[in-house]
Amino acid sequence: LNFLTPKSRRDVIDILLKGLQRMEYRGYDSAGLAIDASNDKNDPHGEVILVRKSGKVKMLEDCVWSNTEMDMDMVYNIHCGIAHTRWATHGSPKDINSHPQRSNNANEFLVVHNGIITNYREIKEYLIRKGHQFESETDTEVIAKLVQHIHDRYPTLNFRQLVETVIQQLEGAFALAFKSSKFPGQLVASRRGSPLLVGIKSKSRLSTDHFPVYYSKARRYQSTTTADDTLELMTPSANDSITQSPAPAPGMVERTASTTEIRPFDSKHWEAEYFVASDASAIIEHTKQVIFLEDDDVAWVNEGTLTIHRIKRGDQAPQTREVQSLNMELQQIMKGNFKTFMQKEIFEQPDSAVNTMRGRVLENGQVVLGGIKDFAADIKRCRRLIFVACGTSYNSAIACRQIMEELTELPVVLELASDFLDRETPIFRDDVCFFISQSGETADTLNALRYCKPRGALLIGITNTVGSSICRESHCGVHVNAGPEIGVASTKAYTSQILALVMFALVMSEDRISMQARRKEIIDALKNLPDLIREVLELNDKVLDIAKHVYKERSMLIMGRGFNFATCLEGALKIKELSYMHCEGIMSGELKHGPLAMVDDSMTIIMIICRDNVYNKSLNALQQVIAREGSPIIIADSEVDEVDLAGMERVLRVPRTVDCVQNILSVIPLQLLSYHIAELNGRNVDRPRNLAKSVTVE
Ligand code: G6P
Repeated sequence: LNFLTPKSRRDVIDILLKGLQRMEYRGYDSAGLAIDASNDKNDPHGEVILVRKSGKVKMLEDCVWSNTEMDMDMVYNIHCGIAHTRWATHGSPKDINSHPQRSNNANEFLVVHNGIITNYREIKEYLIRKGHQFESETDTEVIAKLVQHIHDRYPTLNFRQLVETVIQQLEGAFALAFKSSKFPGQLVASRRGSPLLVGIKSKSRLSTDHFPVYYSKARRYQSTTTADDTLELMTPSANDSITQSPAPAPGMVERTASTTEIRPFDSKHWEAEYFVASDASAIIEHTKQVIFLEDDDVAWVNEGTLTIHRIKRGDQAPQTREVQSLNMELQQIMKGNFKTFMQKEIFEQPDSAVNTMRGRVLENGQVVLGGIKDFAADIKRCRRLIFVACGTSYNSAIACRQIMEELTELPVVLELASDFLDRETPIFRDDVCFFISQSGETADTLNALRYCKPRGALLIGITNTVGSSICRESHCGVHVNAGPEIGVASTKAYTSQILALVMFALVMSEDRISMQARRKEIIDALKNLPDLIREVLELNDKVLDIAKHVYKERSMLIMGRGFNFATCLEGALKIKELSYMHCEGIMSGELKHGPLAMVDDSMTIIMIICRDNVYNKSLNALQQVIAREGSPIIIADSEVDEVDLAGMERVLRVPRTVDCVQNILSVIPLQLLSYHIAELNGRNVDRPRNLAKSVTVE
């Protein structure tokens, strides 16, 4: 936007495509861009051209560069382009579902969106009644259509006011950037819940490091609900002084906000270029000066001036946004400060947990899963729930079995996909079968789904990959939304799968009066969980010390029970996968039936002890181990009594949360331990030998 020196259309496209490529390490599935289309040198803006492609950014790139209709040498002093790479949450990855999404065939309003609009169905119904036609399966398209709708009704609103009006209708999470052929050279961006930053490249140093926020002139909104409107569309009232224009930020540009003195194609007016992005990696090569927008901020670039606005809502205290200097290089952003993707993904878990729950665990205590909404009644009537999965995904099913049984009061059957197929397990029409898979492509799990389909069961996909085979072939599902996982050993997808299943159990029990107190306990805990995960990650150095003592061992046992049995299995799987060390997860109730024979002073043992309904039994197991001269490493929650762990030298304390997600907190030290053991042994952490991220053969 607003170039320091004139740029050709080719340069503009290049900046957008490079920005997308910089974010591709996150594994996106489709991409698109929108730029001005005119080839007329006297009016370089004109219509907007939209190019969208499923697949890698390279596909988009090939498509854009092979376009012969655009004059690539067209020169701009001011131009706004928007582009997006998508990791699908609504609608499979195909061209039409890619962003930018548009308001009409003339591409009058275009929007790119990260996040999820939870009330999109209501808005869509409203807009359909108003005559708008939809072309995609995305939630985002309603935003583009809504801007158009409001613009058609209130043509005097400026671009920023339009967006301010639109975001008031939206529920859920979003980072948005808008472009319009009606407002050439302008950009409006806003966020709520999803990250968004504005990079500023200026000729001289900014004279301020605190950027003011302008409160939009008090606007009285009135509801225009009429008999046929179920959506309460908030629109400016007739006496709204909508022409008010804010003053430019001090030090940013010399010009006043008066539009009359602007000569749009006089390059000396443009003193800054602006880059709006969800991730600093996209813009870091252009500028390190950035403003991180706050929720509900509306950033508007108009005629060379960036201003940040908020709707006045009583909170009139003057506010500023700090212009921060990014202290990082591109390489650093991709893996962060992390050496490997696995390490990054372990440390990303506070964020991936938020992403999984975003728009689903609501402030008012409700839990909403759009993907199963229409099937909830059928599910409640079923005979049993069957969970089918492999590897880590199977462990997430074990982790959630107990809470699922408790909240649904249905029997829950767990099946390893390969064994399920080997046994040709009987399946009935009134069964509900879950297929849990990070990739959504694991052959065993997919074949199990195909086995169940003709038998008439309801099929639910729990995957982290929208548009994957399991997604497409199941009847309904829950997207895990943990973000792409690149390390072969699954970490953040595991903890997010647990969250997805716990949310499912909560939805199934929402109308059970007797369960409300329990549900509230869990929902409250979910809200705090990301912070607690952050606390657990602080144990990293302590875990490293332990790893230094045990990394040469040949064998290790991890013991626990109840909600934490899955943690033992998953911890042991991580250690096996990454360090090739023998490691077994043991249900401590089974100790005396065999494993105790292995216990002596030379065996490395980890025990998980939490203050839950099996606390005393876990302490009992500890005594059995101590009596055989074992000196276990303990993972305990903060409420386990000091005296109960007397004599234990290596104790990792994790915070206490509600029992059914305690296993998320207790597995993280084991993820870290497996990571450090592998590193100390010089293993390739992201690509362990003999293993693949996605096993698409039986
Ligand atoms: C492979 C991976 C594991 C994963 C398992 C199931 O074995 O190496 O990390 O847990 O497949 O994969 P899915 O994509 O179905 O969850």
